[in-house]
Amino acid sequence: MSATDLNPHIYRVEVRDVIQETADAVSLTLDTVAGPSASFDYRPGQFLTLRVPCSDGPLTRCYSLSSAPHSPTRPTITVKRVPDGRASNWICDNAATGTLFDVLPPAGSFVPRDWTAPFLLVAAGSGITPIISILRTALALHDNPITVAYANRCAESVIFARDLDALARRHPDRLTITQWLESESGRPTEAALRSWLTAPAESHAYLCGPAPFMAAARGALIANGLAAPHIHTETFTSLTTDAFSAPAPAICDSASSSTATVELDDEVHSITWPRDAVLLDVLLARGLDVPYVCREGTCGGCAYTLRRGDVHLRENHTLDEYDLARGVRLACQSLPRSGILDLAFDQ
Ligand SMILES: Cc1cc2nc3c(=O)[nH]c(=O)nc-3n(C[C@H](O)[C@H](O)[C@H](O)COP(=O)(O)OP(=O)(O)OC[C@H]3O[C@@H](n4cnc5c(N)ncnc54)[C@H](O)[C@@H]3O)c2cc1C
Ligand code: FES
Repeated sequence: MSATDLNPHIYRVEVRDVIQETADAVSLTLDTVAGPSASFDYRPGQFLTLRVPCSDGPLTRCYSLSSAPHSPTRPTITVKRVPDGRASNWICDNAATGTLFDVLPPAGSFVPRDWTAPFLLVAAGSGITPIISILRTALALHDNPITVAYANRCAESVIFARDLDALARRHPDRLTITQWLESESGRPTEAALRSWLTAPAESHAYLCGPAPFMAAARGALIANGLAAPHIHTETFTSLTTDAFSAPAPAICDSASSSTATVELDDEVHSITWPRDAVLLDVLLARGLDVPYVCREGTCGGCAYTLRRGDVHLRENHTLDEYDLARGVRLACQSLPRSGILDLAFDQ
C-alpha cells in the first residue's frame, strides 16, 4: 500500500436541498451517487467525514447527521459558520443543489446504547446536530422521558427552533425543552448551570457543544450527583489529517510481540501484534478492511471492544468513561500491553 492510495470506503454524495436554518447555519440533504454500496446506514449521533474543496486546497471535516436513520428524510448534515473557519464558511457560502462531496461512511460512538433510561440532552450552538438526531429517534422508537437543555447566544441563533417547538407540542408528556440564551441569562458558567442542569440519578446525559461549555456542563452535572459513566460527550474539533488517503501502515521490527484474536466482519483472525505498532496499522498491513477515519483518536471511527487483555491508548479524545468501562478502545491508538488479547469490531 502506498501513501497515495485512497481510503477504499469513499462515497460521493450530491446535495439535494440547502436549508438556511439561521443566518449562519445551513442544512444539506444528501443523495448517494457513487460508492462501495448504493447508500450507507447510520446510527443516531454519528457523523459523516467530508472532503471540503476549499479555495486553498481540500480539507477533511466531520459533520454530524441531524436527520434520524429511521425516518424517510435523506441523510442531512447541519453546518454552522465558525469565525474565520475555512471549511464551514466554504460550505455555507458555496454548497448548492447539485454540489458533490466525497464523504467517508458514518462513524462515531456518540450513540446511546440504553434507550430506556431518562435522557438529558444538552447542546450548545451547532452541538444540537447529533442531539436532534438522537432526540428524533428516541421520540419515534422509544418511550423514555427526555429533557433537552439547549444553550445559544440569542434567540436568532437557535438552530431547529421550529422543529423543537413542534416536537415539544407533539410529545408534551415525554419531552421538556429548556433554553439558555446568553443574551438574557449571561455566560453559562458551571455555577450558573448547576440550577439549570438537573436530572434523576438514573438518567444518561448526552453533551455536545464547544469544549468550555461542555466542561462547565459536565462539572455541573457531576456536582448535581450524576455519575461520570452516565455522561457522554461529543467534542467538535477540526481534523488535522487527511482521512481520505490511506497512508502506509507504520510497522517496525519489534523485539517483542503479542498475539491477538480479532473478530471483524464475521471472520476471526489470529495476528501477531508488535508491541510498538498500533492495532490499525497491523490490521491494514494484513490487508484487512478495518474501519477508520481520522487516525488521531478524535472520531471514534475505529472503535472496537477489547474482550481479553490490556492495551495502552496513546491518545483518546472521544471515548468517555462509560465506553472505556465497557471495553471500547480505539484501533488507531492501541498498543498491546499484555501477551494475549481478544477483541471484536462490533461497534
Ligand atoms: C465528530 C465531529 C462532529 C462535528 N459535527 C459538526 C456539526 O454537526 N456541525 C458543525 O457545524 N460542526 C461540526 N463539527 C466541527 C467541524 O468538523 C469543523 O471543526 C468546523 O466546521 C470548523 O471547521 P473550519 O474549517 O470552518 O474551521 P478551521 O479552519 O478549522 O478553524 C477553526 C478555528 O480555528 C481558527 N484557526 C484556523 N486555523 C488557525 C491557525 N493556523 N492558527 C490559529 N487559529 C486557527 C479559526 O479562526 C477558527 O476559529 C464536528 C466535528 C467533529 C470532530
Ligand atoms: S480513526 Fe478516528 S479515532 Fe481512530
